[in-house]
Amino acid sequence: MLSDEGLDLIFRQARTHSAWTARAVSEVLLQAVYDLAKMGPTSANCSPMRVVFVCSRAAKEKLRPALDPGNVDKTMAAPVTAIIGYDTRFYEYLPRLFPHADAQSWFVGNEALIEETAFRNGSLQGAYLIIAARALGLDCGPMSGFDKKMVDRIFFPDGRIRSNFLCNLGYGDANKLPPRAPRLNFDEACRIL
Ligand SMILES: Cc1cc2nc3c(=O)[nH]c(=O)nc-3n(C[C@H](O)[C@H](O)[C@H](O)COP(=O)(O)O)c2cc1C
Repeated sequence: MLSDEGLDLIFRQARTHSAWTARAVSEVLLQAVYDLAKMGPTSANCSPMRVVFVCSRAAKEKLRPALDPGNVDKTMAAPVTAIIGYDTRFYEYLPRLFPHADAQSWFVGNEALIEETAFRNGSLQGAYLIIAARALGLDCGPMSGFDKKMVDRIFFPDGRIRSNFLCNLGYGDANKLPPRAPRLNFDEACRIL
């Protein structure tokens, strides 16, 4: 299993950051984050997550009007903002990703199943991406406070991909963190039958 140090890095000491140091995030590091996150499991290996890493000033300015007011400053200050989306035609890749069965035929024409599968597995992959980023030393600031329709119009104009959540990435300024809020304990959240 992971060392205590590793568990601290990705869970116990990892926080949601809103203030960022000036340290840059390289494209190579973003590729390394994706290359870890992609290995997390999805149903039928469907892998519906699609990511736009918004890094340039011009791209950040395109994102700005879609952000809830409380999310503007931290997002504009973060070195990178990942738009975590999901591909509503993920099933077109299934002959390659799940060659053991005709999995494509389970989805074609079933819009409700497509949406449910893409959203569930795309959300899981977004969580894997957060854990991968932390494992590689990055800090994360996930956000759902934004205008999805506007982001989709601006960044995914062909309508195939839908945004799910945003995640600021960089090196957080730990001095600006609020106190950690509590979590539910095992007995409140879990049952063993
Ligand atoms: C999917 C998701 C959406 C979130 N949306 C927002 C948001 O729009 N704005 C914000 O300030 N924080 C947002 N948060 C941050 C959470 O409030 C934060 O992760 C949580 O309180 C835990 O904080 P901690 O990691 O520092 O313990 C979001 C977190 C997640 C996972």
